[in-house]
Amino acid sequence: MFKSKNHNTDNNSLEEDETDEAEIEELFQQQIPIGIGEEEHRVFIVHPDVKWGSRKQYLTTAALQMEEAVGLVNTLYNWSVVDKIILSTKTPEKKRIFGKGNFQALTEKIRDTPGVTAVFVNVERLSPSSEKELQEAWGVKVLDRYSLVLHIFRCNARTKEAKLQISLAEIPLLRSRLRNEAVNLDQQGGGSRYIMGSGETLDFPIISVMGYTNCGKTTLIKALTGDAGLQPKDQLFATLDVTVHAGQLPSHMTVLYVDTIGFLSQLPHQLIDSFSATLEDVTHSDLIIHVRDISHPETVNQKVNVLNVLKNLQIPEKLLNSIIEVHNKIDLIEGYEVSDPEVIPISALKQHGLEVLKVKIEEAVVKYTGKQTMTLKVQLNSPQLAWLYKEATVQVVDDVGDDCTANVKVIISQAAYGRYRKLFQVT
Ligand code: GTP
Repeated sequence: MFKSKNHNTDNNSLEEDETDEAEIEELFQQQIPIGIGEEEHRVFIVHPDVKWGSRKQYLTTAALQMEEAVGLVNTLYNWSVVDKIILSTKTPEKKRIFGKGNFQALTEKIRDTPGVTAVFVNVERLSPSSEKELQEAWGVKVLDRYSLVLHIFRCNARTKEAKLQISLAEIPLLRSRLRNEAVNLDQQGGGSRYIMGSGETLDFPIISVMGYTNCGKTTLIKALTGDAGLQPKDQLFATLDVTVHAGQLPSHMTVLYVDTIGFLSQLPHQLIDSFSATLEDVTHSDLIIHVRDISHPETVNQKVNVLNVLKNLQIPEKLLNSIIEVHNKIDLIEGYEVSDPEVIPISALKQHGLEVLKVKIEEAVVKYTGKQTMTLKVQLNSPQLAWLYKEATVQVVDDVGDDCTANVKVIISQAAYGRYRKLFQVT
């Protein structure tokens, strides 16, 4: 959402905003359905590896999926992995994920591992009955990817929009758990009015920074804006909310960088809508920077996934063409070179390649938005300045001379500049 939040000035709007906030907080607090609180957890991870059949994952290996599963668990404060196992299976979607023999051996292993408090079965969704059955067999809490990712979302949610998205995502889960109690939670989740923030749109060019979780989006934005408030973390989903940070390009044009939620391989199906809703705002940006962790073994598949998601979001053709591909973490690969001259290799951490990137961003902003930074000599005793405030983005007004003129730095589109010249007969 690129709208400034809480900029309402009248009392009614302020009160409404506070009520919204309180209602969302209440909704968020009410829904703690997955039975995982703030307590410490020692997790045993089971990854069912599909050896054949339609569910086989061709694009990724079991070891990488296990690595990501470990990363997910470690994301949570006070959670750790006590042991992990990859087990072959043919039919993870059936009620029985494993064959009888494998299941018995697994149950013994879990029961023999001291201190296990939860088992994470790395499948998208367990049916309530298999979850119950596994829980009874293993004597501890059982999680699937859906409930784990949801819990991570919950722990990281900061804004009311993010909290609301999560509350909405939890509803199907709640429904399946509470079906017998006939609880209609749709009513609680209703009210799309919460989803949009209120306020004005800002006229600065908006640049969405996208890419897989942990690829370095926050580090890059921090390097481009010098925003010390940003804290990059080596942790999945550090950025759950969309946050906006102002930065300057070589010609001193101010742009806004939007730090988006990171992609995750095999995002649980039911969470894709919430995830896409968070990304929908990207549609309204002027430019996209696609950051790739070039040191990641899955970097090529990750690129394919990001581009697919963008296509599914029905991003305008012009915006799709504007994507600047950035290869990050080149410091981890000796002698890294790019063959495509359009790709910008950088190390956000070591701040290498950033000047070249800024020039590229500026070229693209001018090309795709038609906006540029100009300093105009403005007559202060005419309506020129008021017109510029309305039709362009006034950055600086200075050098007010005795002749009643000022130098005014503006970000202005070519069309608006044309109208300005015609209206005020400026040559
Ligand atoms: P999410 O918020 O989870 O989507 O992550 P992100 O894409 O914003 O990644 P973030 O900037 O938090 O960086 C993740 C980790 O990668 C941190 O430990 C960074 O220090 C590290 N990192 C980022 N850029 C570079 C780089 O150029 N080189 C190296 N070696 N590490 C980097």
